Amino acid sequence: MEIETKESVVESVGPDGVSGVQPSPFLKWAGGKSRLLEQYEPWWPEEFERYHEPFLGGGAVFFRLRPEEAALSDVNGRLVDTWRAVRDSLPEVLERLAGHRERHGRTYFYRARQRFNAGRGVSPVERAALMIYLNKTCFNGLYRENGRGEFNVPIGSYRDPRIFDVGHLRAVSRVLQGVEIRVSGFESVVDRAEAGDLVYFDPPYVPLSATSAFTGYHASGFGMDLQHRLARVYAELDRRGCRVMLSNSDVPAVRELYAGWRIIGIRAGRSISCKSSRRGSVGEVLVRNW
Ligand SMILES: C[S@@+](CC[C@H](N)C(=O)[O-])C[C@H]1O[C@@H](n2cnc3c(N)ncnc32)[C@H](O)[C@@H]1O
Repeated sequence: MEIETKESVVESVGPDGVSGVQPSPFLKWAGGKSRLLEQYEPWWPEEFERYHEPFLGGGAVFFRLRPEEAALSDVNGRLVDTWRAVRDSLPEVLERLAGHRERHGRTYFYRARQRFNAGRGVSPVERAALMIYLNKTCFNGLYRENGRGEFNVPIGSYRDPRIFDVGHLRAVSRVLQGVEIRVSGFESVVDRAEAGDLVYFDPPYVPLSATSAFTGYHASGFGMDLQHRLARVYAELDRRGCRVMLSNSDVPAVRELYAGWRIIGIRAGRSISCKSSRRGSVGEVLVRNW
């Protein structure tokens, strides 16, 4: 039996009443795929060798597939350090999170944000716990950096934010054992993926219109030049015999870039947008090479 609890932590309760929390995204992330997993379900291959996810973010698809062998990466070094700390140093992360939860408040949030942005003297584990704390208490769970590469999202208006759940983070850490997690641009997947592997690309989307651009994932941005490069990497992986799946918005530029492949239309609600009028259902695509 499955029970949906707050923040999509799914608990499975066996016939003996023993409950085991299922791993799922531990960070809120713009473009997170949790709500689309059901629509994606029919399209995954039944079998594959290694799994690669080069635009990791919150990793919703990784948690859904739970592959035996996986290589996860993202260009955001702070994000990747957080994943690695949850994999390698969970007890320390939990201890720090307990301290943040105890002291949480407006003044504390802004002090923690300042500390998170401090260059030297902040260990990866300290920064990881700060990242989780800020992610769960900031406005909309957004991750945005200013021109100097500083996280600059203000505090959110949650009355009692659920900052972490020990059982859930333990389940996440368990499933990450043996998983490769690295900081790198998406192109490096070409150096590692082999025939029979599955590669899932979830890049920052091509904007629906010039004014709806939400490209603030990272100080670097992601323009059409990178979308073209990604399409070339897609084709290269196809030639190599990989299974390749990609998500993007349903706009003519994307349909043109992937005209040779199977394009599946997806209806999706977008939650991260500054204007509530844009929170409606928008068209997305899944591009599959088999
Ligand atoms: C749409 S999000 C991925 C969301 C993820 N699938 C989820 O379910 O949470 C896109 C991610 O791509 C990363 N990114 C942006 N430019 C990149 C690049 N050139 N190479 C690799 N990752 C990049 C961002 O840091 C961000 O985490």
